[in-house]
Amino acid sequence: MTSRLQSSAGASARALALLCLLGCESPWDSATCADEGTDLTYESFGRGFIGAYCQSCHASNAKDRRGAPTGISFDTHEDVVEWIDRIYDRSAGENVSMPPGPDDPPEAERQKLEEWLACGAP
Ligand code: HEC
Repeated sequence: MTSRLQSSAGASARALALLCLLGCESPWDSATCADEGTDLTYESFGRGFIGAYCQSCHASNAKDRRGAPTGISFDTHEDVVEWIDRIYDRSAGENVSMPPGPDDPPEAERQKLEEWLACGAP
């Protein structure tokens, strides 16, 4: 059951992304990794950021997802890489629609998220 829900959420997100190829601009399309790359890694940054700001709703063991879609969980490094474009568009840098608030990450943390994701979330 869970896996069916998960794949249908993934499928509709992909359908949306496909539709957007025809018209919408996504911030992810212009994400750029600096020539020197990034020192940030999942271990040193990503795990902590996602744990602090996303997993209360987006984890498969979240007690109360507060409406976060069932298939969209960021349990592991692989999950984050799978959703990299959507996480970027919703949370990195000046993109502030996730988390829905009020416990938003500080701006400096969003900038680190932007840098880390733009370099492929190593
Ligand atoms: C308080 C609960 C909550 C927290 C914390 C939260 N989200 Fe969400 N998330 C939601 C809800 C509700 C939706 C569905 C409505 C929507 O898309 O706005 C959602 C949907 C999403 C989606 C799928 C829709 C899309 O745009 O592709 C992504 C990706 C996402 N959130 C990323 C994040 C990230 C990244 C974080 C952490 C920085 C985060 N969320 C933190 C509740 C939460």
